[in-house]
Amino acid sequence: MRLQGKVAVITGAARGIGAAIAERFAAEGAKVVAADMDPLAGDETVGRIRAAGNEARFVGCDVTSRQQVAALMDRAIEAYGSLDVVVANAGIIHNTPFLELDDATFDRVIAVNLKGVFYTGQEAARRMVDRGIKGIIVNTASVNAVIVPLGLAAYNASKGGVNQLTKTMAVELARHGIRVNAIGPGSVATDLFRSAMLTDPEAMDRVRSRTPLGRPAEPSEIAGAALFLATDDSAYFTGQTIYPDGGRLALSQVMPKE
Ligand SMILES: NC(=O)c1ccc[n+]([C@@H]2O[C@H](COP(=O)([O-])OP(=O)(O)OC[C@H]3O[C@@H](n4cnc5c(N)ncnc54)[C@H](O)[C@@H]3O)[C@@H](O)[C@H]2O)c1
Repeated sequence: MRLQGKVAVITGAARGIGAAIAERFAAEGAKVVAADMDPLAGDETVGRIRAAGNEARFVGCDVTSRQQVAALMDRAIEAYGSLDVVVANAGIIHNTPFLELDDATFDRVIAVNLKGVFYTGQEAARRMVDRGIKGIIVNTASVNAVIVPLGLAAYNASKGGVNQLTKTMAVELARHGIRVNAIGPGSVATDLFRSAMLTDPEAMDRVRSRTPLGRPAEPSEIAGAALFLATDDSAYFTGQTIYPDGGRLALSQVMPKE
């Protein structure tokens, strides 16, 4: 039990990577606060955690609202008495060619993926500092923080911003004993990805061609990276983004067809 007795807040925990992190952390003994905009799917995540005999509750939260993020951190402390690990995972993606990208889309993606990470980290860190908690913050970036798939200008910019925000938070919060790192996944087989594959049979071929390991990650494999960053196993890591990407960033060409 690597997170026994720790209180962990995870945003975007209703499905996909966030749900996998919530389930893994709870299985490792954490008291989990699963936060999301989607209460139905959020309750399902919590239901699965409780059915496994572990501890969790759902809190509705839109990470683009500072007020809601502040209330989320307060609810976690009220319910479980601490705030030890916070994972800023909520994110959205929008595929539009750069020349057609409109203000509203750009603003929305930045609001969720970058400003949401800022609100989550700042509201969490203020409470950790006030209480003398040497907490851990994990942000969700992407390989898109450092490489550029087409049609994702706002997303790519938001994730590049998450990397720099992660470094800045790490440097400024180090004197409080708070560590801040990020995960930068490659392609992950979330619901979104699976549904895209149903309508686009070539999607899996594209993932294979750019991923030396030849497959997308399972959400549980990203949760494993988050667990490493959430425990003392990563005690000397801060300001880093680690990339569970199946070798994607190491590849400069495409993989040959089998
Ligand atoms: N799936 C991938 O291939 C992949 C790769 C790299 C990075 N990521 C990142 O991982 C994170 C999770 O992605 P996923 O694939 O699990 O996505 P997903 O769509 O399966 O889940 C995202 C969750 O975030 C929630 N959410 C969206 N906007 C929110 C908001 N404003 N406030 C609170 N919750 C909100 C959604 O309701 C959903 O439950 C994102 O930051 C994403 O950018 C995903």
